[in-house]
Amino acid sequence: MPRLDGRALDQLRPIKITAGFQTYAEGSVLIEQGNTRVVVSVTMEDRVPPFLKNSGTGWVTAEYAMLPRSTSTRTPRDSAGKISGRSQEIQRLVGRSLRAVTDLAALGERSFTVDCDVLQADAGTRTASITGGYVALYLAFSKLHRLGIFKNMPLRSQVAAVSVSVYKGNILLDPAFEEDCNAESDFNLVMNSRGEFIEVQGTAEKKAYAKETLEAVIAMGEKGIRQLFEIQAAAIKGL
Ligand code: CDP
Repeated sequence: MPRLDGRALDQLRPIKITAGFQTYAEGSVLIEQGNTRVVVSVTMEDRVPPFLKNSGTGWVTAEYAMLPRSTSTRTPRDSAGKISGRSQEIQRLVGRSLRAVTDLAALGERSFTVDCDVLQADAGTRTASITGGYVALYLAFSKLHRLGIFKNMPLRSQVAAVSVSVYKGNILLDPAFEEDCNAESDFNLVMNSRGEFIEVQGTAEKKAYAKETLEAVIAMGEKGIRQLFEIQAAAIKGL
């Protein structure tokens, strides 16, 4: 079955990561993955959440939001103190994923907020936020490293994420909107560049899936994530 946009079943959408997209942020990127576009910016603060006070350890957290017309019909903005359940779930996933590769003790008592703002949502916005978020965090940390604030880069490995869906009986890497919204089942995989898993989410949206399907999804997702590590490295190289 040819895919709606002509891709092979195991082919990522075209991806472009523009480093330094926002001037004032400590680190910032625009990540474009097909028609999905997310701006990710990292802000450092010299304080930590109460539970880390006097621990000498830092923190990485994320926030996620979609612009109203990032979607085909207008999605009202999250208002202060009333973040949608979906946004909360996504920002916690992004935060967990980035913390998993950060040496928090090496940050000192500093917090890094990773803001993920979706300009256009064509599926895979949470996975693009993680893949772009790693590059934005790298840029922020390397700036502080150059300034002598960090002796070493406080990153243990790369992290990237991809979605896989089962759509009309086929396993598809990096689904776009139609392949995601009408998927039989939907997966999000997060991995580090040591080949380990950080998060595996698999939801039977319309149809329960077999263990063999999950294994095939993981194999396909891992291949995609390896390519994402190369794209991240290319975006960072030479900066
Ligand atoms: O974007 P991601 O795949 O991480 O999250 P999702 O909740 O599975 O949403 C898939 C897609 O549905 C989004 O990327 C949007 O294109 C669309 N969507 C929407 O149009 N309006 C929403 N409130 C939520 C999602």
